[in-house]
Amino acid sequence: MHTRVLTGITTTGTPHLGNYVGAIRPAIAASRRAEVDAFFFLADYHALIKCGDAARVERSRLEIAATWLAAGLDPQRVTFYRQSDIPEIPELCWFLTCVTAKGLLNRAHAYKAAVDHNRETGDDPDAAITAGLYMYPVLMAADILAFDANHVPVGRDQIQHIEMARDIAQRFSHLYGHEFFVLPEVAIDEDAPTLPGLDGRKMSKSYDNTIPLFAGGARALREAVSRIVTDSREPGVAKDPDSTSLTTIHQAFASVEAHAAFRQALVDGLGWGEAKKQLFELLDATLAPMRERYEALLARPADIEEILHAGAAKARAIATPKIAAIRAAVGLRAFHQMQGEKPAKAAKTKAAKAARLASFRDGANGFRFRLFAADGAELLLSVPFADPKAAGRVQQQLQAGAGGVALRAEGTQWVLAVDGNEVGRSAAVADEAARAALRGHLETALAQLVRHDD
Ligand code: TRP
Repeated sequence: MHTRVLTGITTTGTPHLGNYVGAIRPAIAASRRAEVDAFFFLADYHALIKCGDAARVERSRLEIAATWLAAGLDPQRVTFYRQSDIPEIPELCWFLTCVTAKGLLNRAHAYKAAVDHNRETGDDPDAAITAGLYMYPVLMAADILAFDANHVPVGRDQIQHIEMARDIAQRFSHLYGHEFFVLPEVAIDEDAPTLPGLDGRKMSKSYDNTIPLFAGGARALREAVSRIVTDSREPGVAKDPDSTSLTTIHQAFASVEAHAAFRQALVDGLGWGEAKKQLFELLDATLAPMRERYEALLARPADIEEILHAGAAKARAIATPKIAAIRAAVGLRAFHQMQGEKPAKAAKTKAAKAARLASFRDGANGFRFRLFAADGAELLLSVPFADPKAAGRVQQQLQAGAGGVALRAEGTQWVLAVDGNEVGRSAAVADEAARAALRGHLETALAQLVRHDD
């Protein structure tokens, strides 16, 4: 079975060595696996939220596209496109906006951080916060849900956004009566190294400690390597290989043996100047051929345009019918499609099977209930309650969608809690993947329990 893996790259900067090692290289390697159906896109609508400098966004789109292609992304094999070439994404974004709770967006980390910052500096809480920043998670949900992505590889700072995409998808499906979307799962690549920058802190534009990937050519690469911070030990004096980011960067590009030899040479007194020369040569051996492709691509932007257009066509072949179904579901069909149909009764279309609760008396233990999925599978068994009223109250809270209802993992089980108190638990499952899947079923069932008497 194919797993659809989808990720977006915000087009506000020029890729550096840390982006290559941490994101680009592992993503391209994963895209070559037979079972992976990879979608990569330039998140240029998201870029506008962060950056109002048109020239910079334009330049960044081109550079990032050229970088990924030069680094070995095969546009035949994967689906590679620009967000702004897919009109279905903003269209879906609106449909999702109309079901997204404002309170959910209030809790988004990036938005909250901006509000907190304003408070700290004594500004109006809304100062300099755009509606774009507020809506960022909904646009991202649309990116993901339009293509029914299974896995979304992102950095840790994006985990909340994937959880919100799931929430929003479930809310939409619940309101419109069937499962419209695959619920995406976050994929964190634990093996991809976080590269340190020149000064040993994480390599990041905001620290101004980056090593350029292609920009400025071999000269800029050599120059940046020469600025990596080391101590002042002379050649011939033993060095601590872990005292500088030089070694970590070396490790990200060298074979295990070559890296071990490099560390040993430092212990044996290799001079920093010579060590930097060796690191430059190692990096350039990998990067020079890519850099050549990069420059050739940048010289022919029309070719890149064509590649991205073909990618957008592939992507839209999926998104167009998907969004058409969603337009119909929300009541925006073309009138001629309704010919001969009786007007649907809202209640009828909702009669689709839903999850349910069933109470029973459990011998001398007391009163319990079970939660069943729409397909009849048992998902959860409640704790025993002393009397049927207590069991009933908890069921009412679940059906009311009370705020204190939460799921937490415990070993290979899920525990359902109301206001922090355990009220039930799932059966134990075999592994992490099964547990993740079960969470999806539980969330769907809990969402279905909440009746909307509209
Ligand atoms: N927000 C992501 C980031 O800053 C970029 C992004 C936009 C994205 N849309 C996405 C990532 C959809 C994954 C899926 O890294």
